[in-house]
Amino acid sequence: MDKIKVIILDNNLEERFDIENALANIDYIEIARTPDDLEEAIAIIESDFVDVILVSNSFNGGGYEIAENLSTEFIDKATIILEKEINEDTMYQAIFSGAKDVILLPVKPNKLVDSIYKANKLTKKRLEHHRKVDITKKKKSGYGQVYSVFSTKGGTGKTFFATNLAITLLKETNKKVCLLDFDLDYGNISLALDIVPKFTIIDVIDDIKSIDPDYIETFLTNHESGLKVLAASKEANVNDFINTEHIQIIIKTLQSAYDYIIIDMSSRFTETTNPAFVFSEKLFLITTPEIMSVKNIKGAITTLTDFNYPKNKINIVLNKFSKNSDIRSNDIEKILGFDIFYKVPDDYLKVMASLNQGIPYVQKYPRSEIGKSFSNIVSNIVGEEK
Ligand SMILES: Nc1ncnc2c1ncn2[C@@H]1O[C@H](COP(=O)(O)OP(=O)(O)OP(=O)(O)O)[C@@H](O)[C@H]1O
Ligand SMILES: [Mg+2]
Repeated sequence: MDKIKVIILDNNLEERFDIENALANIDYIEIARTPDDLEEAIAIIESDFVDVILVSNSFNGGGYEIAENLSTEFIDKATIILEKEINEDTMYQAIFSGAKDVILLPVKPNKLVDSIYKANKLTKKRLEHHRKVDITKKKKSGYGQVYSVFSTKGGTGKTFFATNLAITLLKETNKKVCLLDFDLDYGNISLALDIVPKFTIIDVIDDIKSIDPDYIETFLTNHESGLKVLAASKEANVNDFINTEHIQIIIKTLQSAYDYIIIDMSSRFTETTNPAFVFSEKLFLITTPEIMSVKNIKGAITTLTDFNYPKNKINIVLNKFSKNSDIRSNDIEKILGFDIFYKVPDDYLKVMASLNQGIPYVQKYPRSEIGKSFSNIVSNIVGEEK
């Protein structure tokens, strides 16, 4: 068996000593050199073929942020967080940071060794999977961009925004676009697009072990625009079987086959769909110009920043705005502490007409004000990539 090389990023000498002791007699584990600072740690990780990175939550004043940067930069290495306390908050932070596990300090030797072994195995397996996926992919090089649409208030227009963004991206870039319904309990993209899916996310989960970019394609539903949709299940209770890892696999697999992956989310934070936040290039937070809606979004921003979610991924969208709105957009910006990136006007009559005919708004009214708003959003997205 190849040795697993482990680097320990912990400024606390006592903790580090405990960990070194716990690993000292394990013949398949080798401890890497001790870095003086983060810069040196990165150099060691790169040059000494480190497999597993142990990061203390307090390392260099921000272990989670460091863990996130490391797990993004080194996808072939497993990151494990060392924490003094494991609770819901720390678990969320760990998931957002891309860490494979959280280990309680002071470490229990068996638990630590087991975690290192499993995290390494899982990461190597994923890498194998990616290599296979790379061979089969037919599109461009590089991974598809993920954009998630979220709001902690129901009915703000997430599904409307996600659907129309996906269709505009498809029309204006001519690239491969896939729309995922991750509003697992109440998903209604099928209704919005007037499609009747033969398969849903539940069928993908049933066969998750065999999923690859070609196979997942067979579970997607075609919309006449050319958009591909992974529909949510309509059956009650089946979604309890979907877990975080399933969601990760689905996103990663689709990233290999599609240029853009748009994700319509539910109105609350759930652990299962957390990977959508993590993988997103941009997170569109949808608010309407109403007090309750802005208040809710303010809460969502607080939660996200508490979990170290990168602020630069957050894009505030003001939907259904009109001259008669409760609050002016300047005030919304002040309350949220964020600029509003996009405004989508309220257009009740045309929205109703498009829904009644089952034709997405931007397809039916491409030259309308809303149609132009979506074109602008897409130009910005595509412009930023160049
Ligand atoms: N800009 C708009 N102008 C007019 N009506 C809109 C606009 N955006 C969305 N709507 C309508 O508002 C309603 C709620 O929108 P939608 O279903 O997209 O919200 P949601 O956030 O996905 O809701 P849920 O929380 O139930 O998933 C729908 O009837 C939709 O057609
Ligand atoms: Mg919705």
